[in-house]
Amino acid sequence: MTDAVNVDYSTSIPNNVDLGSDRRVLKALEQWHPGYLDWWGRMGPEGFQEALVYLRTAVSVDPKGWAIFDYVRMPQYRWGILLAPQEEGRRIPCGEHAGEPAWQDVPGEYRAMLRRLIVIQGDTEPASVEQQRHLGVTAPSLYDLRNLFQVNVEEGRHLWAMVYLLQKYFGRDGREEAEELLRRSSGDPDHPRMLGAFNEATPDWLSFFMFTFFTDRDGKMQLEALSQSGFDPLSRTCRFMLTEEAHHMFVGETGIGRVIQRTCEAMRTAGVDDPYDIDQVRGLGVIDLPTIQKKANLHFSLSLDLFGSEISTNAANAFNAGIKGRHRESKLGDDHRLLDATYPVLRLGNGGIRTVEEPALTAINARLRDDYVHDCAGGIGRWNKMIARTGTPFEFKLPHVAFNRRIGEFAGVHADPDGKLIDEAEWQAGMAKWLPSPEDRAFIESLMQPEYAPGRFAPWIAPPRAGIDNKPGEFEYVKIAG
Ligand SMILES: [Fe+2]
Ligand SMILES: [Fe+2]
Repeated sequence: MTDAVNVDYSTSIPNNVDLGSDRRVLKALEQWHPGYLDWWGRMGPEGFQEALVYLRTAVSVDPKGWAIFDYVRMPQYRWGILLAPQEEGRRIPCGEHAGEPAWQDVPGEYRAMLRRLIVIQGDTEPASVEQQRHLGVTAPSLYDLRNLFQVNVEEGRHLWAMVYLLQKYFGRDGREEAEELLRRSSGDPDHPRMLGAFNEATPDWLSFFMFTFFTDRDGKMQLEALSQSGFDPLSRTCRFMLTEEAHHMFVGETGIGRVIQRTCEAMRTAGVDDPYDIDQVRGLGVIDLPTIQKKANLHFSLSLDLFGSEISTNAANAFNAGIKGRHRESKLGDDHRLLDATYPVLRLGNGGIRTVEEPALTAINARLRDDYVHDCAGGIGRWNKMIARTGTPFEFKLPHVAFNRRIGEFAGVHADPDGKLIDEAEWQAGMAKWLPSPEDRAFIESLMQPEYAPGRFAPWIAPPRAGIDNKPGEFEYVKIAG
């Protein structure tokens, strides 16, 4: 039995949506399951499929205690369908239907729009698993290896979450989309994933931490916006996904933080004062801070592209329809319709970049991107405090949003990290200073040697301050032999 908070494990697919009495959807999911496991085997983590991994599994959607931790072989992970509890009397929070009761079924007029949003979200989830599949062989510790796999199985579950919505609410074309989600793959020249950043390689652990900090954070912002949907099942699905996503943010922020900490400590111990003396710092076997800044520049700019064009009628339509809200829509103090409102957007003009008041409705993407930048800046600030405590004269900075863009207002121009427009020659000349060069990548790669002894860490990264599930430092998070 399901009581909406606790999860039913008696059906083949754990769930809190009463699949036991929804035979049609249960059957559709059961038919999709072997294809999913086949995908996991082909495109999921390379190796380690027999390893026992100390994973959390959701057993409830109660925010106070929703997961249990135990050793699991990844292919046996219980990927389930979990929705946050239905909110009594919930209303559509924005757009022309604002204030009307939230939809429990797909509103016919918005069916295509809704399906597309769900498919795009769904496509990113398995994509990141594919991008990260080679990382296990170079894990800097069992702790990090476990965190990688935790993120991977949860991204897998997020795919299940979107597939459930497609199969339950979109009939035959929903089932077809669910199959397609297993057919595309990251970086595939013929069937790539739908969004650019999800076709980039994640070749090393610094890239992984950058990805979870910057790109998973885009995911978080998109889920925040979709959790404000007037289509209640989508809202409830995304609200629970955000609970899991918090751990992915943690992995990124603390991962980069530990790399920075180790670098600063190694410099201090060796008496190296100049963080820009790259050869000397690298000679200590740690990653110099300017290279970490370049990696941040790259991943930040790639992730900004995921927000789409600043000015977008699609985004306006989705908001106006009540299908996708703004970040924290229900907490915002305006009329939630935005018919006469404006929003300041950075645009090109007069040979530079300036702020223009645009109709707020068409500036929905720009606004979500601004909220994202603000969220990123919080993490940067915490790293800088840490660096300051070690006395190292260095500060990380987010590059300007015009830097290194492929999509939107700044796709057709070159800007330096301060947002100054530059010509092609200046761009070519500056690139090696601003973005990781082949030499930088080769250096990072040279550090990627696995450390699988319990409680030990590769020399380029500091241990975490606390274990997962309060486990002690020596804890064997992954039993590799299984
Ligand atoms: Fe996800
Ligand atoms: Fe994530």
